Amino acid sequence: MTERDFTSILDVSSPELHHLLDTALGMKRDGPSPVLQGQTLAMVFEKPSLRTRTSFEMAMRRLGGQGLYLSGHEVQMGEREPVRDVARVLSRMVQAIAARTYAHHTVTELAKYADIPVVNALSDDEHPCQAVADLLTLRERFGSLTGLRIAYIGDGNNVGRSLAYASVMTGAHLVISGPEGYELDADSMARALALPGGGSVTQVRDPHEAVHDVAAVYTDVWASMGQEHEVTRRAEAFRSYQVNAGLIASAPSDALIMHDLPAHRGEEITDEVIESPRSIVWDQAENRMHAQQAILALLLGGQ
Ligand code: CP
Ligand code: NVA
Repeated sequence: MTERDFTSILDVSSPELHHLLDTALGMKRDGPSPVLQGQTLAMVFEKPSLRTRTSFEMAMRRLGGQGLYLSGHEVQMGEREPVRDVARVLSRMVQAIAARTYAHHTVTELAKYADIPVVNALSDDEHPCQAVADLLTLRERFGSLTGLRIAYIGDGNNVGRSLAYASVMTGAHLVISGPEGYELDADSMARALALPGGGSVTQVRDPHEAVHDVAAVYTDVWASMGQEHEVTRRAEAFRSYQVNAGLIASAPSDALIMHDLPAHRGEEITDEVIESPRSIVWDQAENRMHAQQAILALLLGGQ
C-alpha cells in the first residue's frame, strides 16, 4: 500500500505538519482551488457529529469534489460485515474514507485494507484533524507556534493526545492538568516527548499552576462519546478542573480560551468564559474546514 493515511497526527512528519498549516492558511486567505475535481470522500460515522461532518463535506465541495455521508448504524462496521470488507468495497467506488469510530483499531484496520487514503475523523484514541485546526487557529493569532505555551485542562483523551503530539511537532509547549487517574497515559507521553519539532508536553496536577504563563487555555468534555455511563463519576473527579473565572484569573489577562466543541456549559467550562471576548472557539470550529482541505489536498492531490 503506497497511499497516504491520516489515522494519527503521527502519520505526518513535523515538516509536513508545518506544511499543512501553511497550506490551510493559504487556502483560507485565497480560497481553495478545485484540485479534487470529481473525487468522492466516503464519511463513515459511528458517533454523532456537527463540525466534523460539515467541515469534511464542505472541504470536499470547496476542493471540487464531494462527500458521501454513511451512517455507522447503516454500515455497521464489524457487525454487518468485517471492517476489512468495508475498506475493500469503498476502495472500488470512492477516492478516500473519513471514519469516526469508537475503537481506534477500526480506523487502522480500514487503513490497512483500503487502497485509498483513510482519515481519522475522531476515534477513542485520537482526533488529529482537530489538532491541525487548533494549531491553525493559534498560528493565525500568534504568527508562530515556536515557544507558544498552551494549557490543556481536563481529560487525557483523544483531543489531548493529538494536541500533545502536534504541539511537540510544531515547537509549542503543552501543559496538561487533570485529576489523578485521568492523565494522558505514560506511553503517549513518552511517544510525544520522543517526537522531533522542538516542543514539549508536561503534566501538572494543579490547574492554576498549569495556566499561569500560557497564551491559551484549552478544555474538552469530561466524558467523551462512548463514556456516557461514566458521567457522574467523572463529574466528581473533574470538579476542580472547570475552566471558570476563578481559574482564568490565574492565567495571563490576554490568554485565549479554546474548546473543540461541543461544550457542556456548567461542566468543563462556564457560560461566562466560553462567551467571553477571549474565546476563540468559533475560529477553531471554522478552521476545521480549512485544515481538512489542506489534509485532503495532501492525501489526494499531492499538495
Ligand atoms: N469538534 C468536533 O469534532 O465536533 P463534532 O463532534 O461536532 O464533529
Ligand atoms: N473528547 C470528545 C471530543 C468531541 C469532539 C469526544 O470524544 O467525545
